[in-house]
Amino acid sequence: MTAVVIVLAYLLGSIPSGIWIGKYFYHTDIRTYGSGNSGTTNTFRVLGKKAGTIVLIMDMLKGSAATLLPIWLGAEIHPLLAGVVAALGHTYPLFAGFKGGKAVATSGGIILAYNPLFFTEAIIAFVIYLYFSRMVSLSSILVCFTAIFLSFFFKDWPLTIVTILLTVFIIYRHRSNIYRIKNGTESKVPFGYKSKS
Ligand code: G3P
Repeated sequence: MTAVVIVLAYLLGSIPSGIWIGKYFYHTDIRTYGSGNSGTTNTFRVLGKKAGTIVLIMDMLKGSAATLLPIWLGAEIHPLLAGVVAALGHTYPLFAGFKGGKAVATSGGIILAYNPLFFTEAIIAFVIYLYFSRMVSLSSILVCFTAIFLSFFFKDWPLTIVTILLTVFIIYRHRSNIYRIKNGTESKVPFGYKSKS
């Protein structure tokens, strides 16, 4: 049953929400605009609030559903591990040439399903960072470090270990953003353009 969960979690994560919503409802490949990323932030940036919200929900649901799969199917695998597989699917999607997003929204979905209080604390920190920096990428990176700190209070070592692993992975996926943040060229909210940077 563990193998079934891993395959299903990867396939769930592989659903390229941003690409499909853009392609089928807006006739736009979001990868050719904005940051070139296929995730939630670039969907907001390129297609607006409605599409961005739908993709945010879909990307989070992928993480949440994968995390709950072991419980639903009675599998031995730890829920967080199933969630991580979905985050990998989101980043290296089978249905989009293995070029996907940066795993932030999907990671949020994992945490929401696993520990809603931890998720709530992290989301409050994210909103504060976003309010002051206006940069989703910087806020995403900062909230990862905050989440590591917060995870210690739950005394749940799998949670801390997975939070550290996801932080390393998310920072790795934000290399181009870090470069733009240093240069002072990272886009800020509210987004107001639709051109490839
Ligand atoms: O969720 C990803 C976000 O932190 C950055 O996205 O499109 O600005 O590279 P983007």
